Amino acid sequence: MALSKLPYKGTRDFFPPQMRQRDFLFQKMREIAELHSYEPYDGPLLEEVDLYLAKSGEELINEQIYSFIDRGERKVAIRPEMTPTVARMVAQIHKEQSKPLRWYAIPNLMRYEKPQKGRLREHWQFNCDIFGAPEGLGEIEILQVASGLLKSFGATEEHFEILINDRRIVDAIFNNLLKLSAEQSHKLYKIIDKSKKVSPEALDKMISEIISNDLTKNHFKEYLKLDSVASVISFLERHALKDSAAGFIAFSDRLQSSGLSKFVIYDPTIVRGLDYYTGIVFEIFDKSPDNRRAICGGGAYANLLQIFNEDPLPGVGFGLGDVTLADFLKTHGLLKEFEKPDIGVLVAYLDASSEAVAMELSRKLRSLGLNTELYLGEAKPKKIFSHTDKRGHKGVIMIGSNEVQTGEVEIKRLTDQEKARLKIESPELIKKFLE
Ligand code: HAM
Repeated sequence: MALSKLPYKGTRDFFPPQMRQRDFLFQKMREIAELHSYEPYDGPLLEEVDLYLAKSGEELINEQIYSFIDRGERKVAIRPEMTPTVARMVAQIHKEQSKPLRWYAIPNLMRYEKPQKGRLREHWQFNCDIFGAPEGLGEIEILQVASGLLKSFGATEEHFEILINDRRIVDAIFNNLLKLSAEQSHKLYKIIDKSKKVSPEALDKMISEIISNDLTKNHFKEYLKLDSVASVISFLERHALKDSAAGFIAFSDRLQSSGLSKFVIYDPTIVRGLDYYTGIVFEIFDKSPDNRRAICGGGAYANLLQIFNEDPLPGVGFGLGDVTLADFLKTHGLLKEFEKPDIGVLVAYLDASSEAVAMELSRKLRSLGLNTELYLGEAKPKKIFSHTDKRGHKGVIMIGSNEVQTGEVEIKRLTDQEKARLKIESPELIKKFLE
């Protein structure tokens, strides 16, 4: 039986056009991270499963992780997310470092998902995390980096929104107002996650299976209707829970002066599926009805380093997927084409006696930093032009015996069909002509 030429389900082959797009997106990610003084890091593709068991959450562990037993009987996993790895790395060295630590990476991650638009089994995820920042400030900065990336492509508040919530508020409501047991809270977290995707009747039924008391149920439904920072604060005040919102209120005040408030909306259904979050949580959503999905997710996690028996060091961060980013940019016409390579000039020769001159000119042009393709072998002009049509060179030079004799070549700029005769000895003029 012949083998399939296709990649494993939910993964991608990156042919040159897709690779160019990926490099371009990664370059923009690196630029925005460095602009905010984040430093690059990376970790291994494999980690011990225990690292994720500690705090990554049920769905990731039970349904999505790729794990196996290695030859030394260790249970290992292909990384499904980067946060446990970065926390493990920070735990090794944070004591000697000046705080805050600001780190970024663009790892490929694998999750066993049902492949669909915006969800694959392998994706690359831009991660930025800050450790040891004063409370509230790290959150604002992280949101600035994530939204800064989208803005760097020309996206505005018309294109995306940042939905926020606070785990401390959710916990206060669950524990002190609804008085739920740990098991009930756990189940209700899952319902919140699904609440926008099901009908009101189905939602009602799901809630009733967990909460029997009508008053408690109504409080919960009231919570699900909150839609602004002001409404959540007034809800907490009414139920004598305002103390739980101190961090959130300080954060909301800072939002006003951060330039971010026009993007931010309070959303009670944002709770995030990962167990380690302890404070502000957020997801950045595409506003287009055709692509209504999360481009980015993150939040504050105060206790992750404790799984390594380290003193707490608060972290805040986000993960932003390459698939969802490209879908977002394409939906809004913010991504250029990558079909053709970026080749400055094609140098071709028409007969064997011109080969050496063509080679030498190519060398000189490359030494000036011009991307140059040497057409290999003698060729007729028709064939050469058919090649430039397909590959999109900016210019073409054809060298024959006449050019060798006179020491001058004709260069054609293919962007506007302008021609010039220039000396082979002056490659810098050739380069300039193409600029
Ligand atoms: P997450 O919400 O699981 O968070 O993933 C973050 C983003 O990665 C999602 O919003 C989505 O854009 C993208 N993503 C996730 N899974 C897939 C998939 N199967 N296919 C394509 N894209 C996907 C985290 O992973 C956290 N560790 C982020 C974080 C960093 N929190 C703090 N620091």
